[in-house]
Amino acid sequence: MTSKKIRYSNSSTVFYFDGKFSSIKTLCRKATTTIITDEHVFAAHQEKFRGWNVIILKPGEEFKVQATADAVIEQLIALEAGRDHTLVGVGGGVVTDLTGYIASVYLRGIRFGFVPTTILGLVDASIGGKNGIDVNGYKNLVGTINQPAFILHDLSFLNSLPEKDWRNGFAEVIKHAAIKDAAMFRSLEKNELSFYRDDHKALAALISRNAMIKIRVVQEDEFERGDRKLLNFGHTIGHAIETQYELLHGEAISIGMICAAHISEKETGFAETARLAALLEKYALPAYASFNPEKVFSILKMDKKRKSSSVNYVLLNAIGNSKWQALPLTAIRKFLFSTKKW
Ligand SMILES: NC(=O)c1ccc[n+]([C@@H]2O[C@H](COP(=O)([O-])OP(=O)(O)OC[C@H]3O[C@@H](n4cnc5c(N)ncnc54)[C@H](O)[C@@H]3O)[C@@H](O)[C@H]2O)c1
Ligand SMILES: [Zn+2]
Repeated sequence: MTSKKIRYSNSSTVFYFDGKFSSIKTLCRKATTTIITDEHVFAAHQEKFRGWNVIILKPGEEFKVQATADAVIEQLIALEAGRDHTLVGVGGGVVTDLTGYIASVYLRGIRFGFVPTTILGLVDASIGGKNGIDVNGYKNLVGTINQPAFILHDLSFLNSLPEKDWRNGFAEVIKHAAIKDAAMFRSLEKNELSFYRDDHKALAALISRNAMIKIRVVQEDEFERGDRKLLNFGHTIGHAIETQYELLHGEAISIGMICAAHISEKETGFAETARLAALLEKYALPAYASFNPEKVFSILKMDKKRKSSSVNYVLLNAIGNSKWQALPLTAIRKFLFSTKKW
């Protein structure tokens, strides 16, 4: 198992991109470790967890709340888990966000690591140290920024990942390509989802390349004062659509990326919107959708990242080349309400 140590401003994370779950025994002592996972992951991979102390959560975003954190903390107290305890989150973004949050507040912080088991988790949610919970329907309203001690990739978990979660994760992969990596964009254009699902080597290379894109962005701007904002490409309008309609996160940001591409045409002269739309559709993601602009705009206005009358908005200069700038809400409103949006 090869390791890669990534340094952040005041901590570091060791990545094992070609790991095997069984080797966490070399990273953690069984007697002082608790694994946190969810029912879906546990049911599909029970044999991997044998011999470990495991807390199994109910799956789903609705359980990414303080009540779940409290229930886990009560179990840690019952186990008499002390400062030498390690928590390992094995699951999608919900499990790793919760695990990082609980480990950051229990006894004011204990050691933790992640084994992400969704594409979205592998390339996005497990990386960067943001963790937290939802409060009263507000996503990620409460949390900390705290980096895990280790992140181990074992792609055999993906054997049981539902098809919708593959598409969902590939929306973030396409996002990374669009903002930072024109060569990866071209590879994605040449291939398709079934290719990556069947070709372990190609998938592993794609996942580590995406993880490195996010790692570098976070290393340069851990606390989101500058270029970490680029990772929000497609997410401003995307989140507002996601809140309003029953869409996968990946579907909503896919539509959000196309809105941002059209806004980029006006702001930067970006000229490859059709190419981005074609790639999204190739990966079974929606590029266009009709939505109620009034409702979407009213949610967007409430976005917690909003600063006065403008938003920090991510634009494309070209495929693989992005920037962020303050954009007046009125410009976004005008785009959303234009009778012919595209
Ligand atoms: N911390 C961050 O920087 C960050 C970034 C992006 C997203 N997120 C968070 O991540 C969450 C979304 O992550 P997600 O899409 O991984 O969702 P998720 O954790 O809900 O997982 C999606 C579904 O797949 C199931 N699952 C997971 N792995 C599986 C496997 N290997 N086999 C079978 N089923 C499996 C889960 O039980 C769940 O039903 C959101 O809460 C979001 O806020 C956090
Ligand atoms: Zn996202």
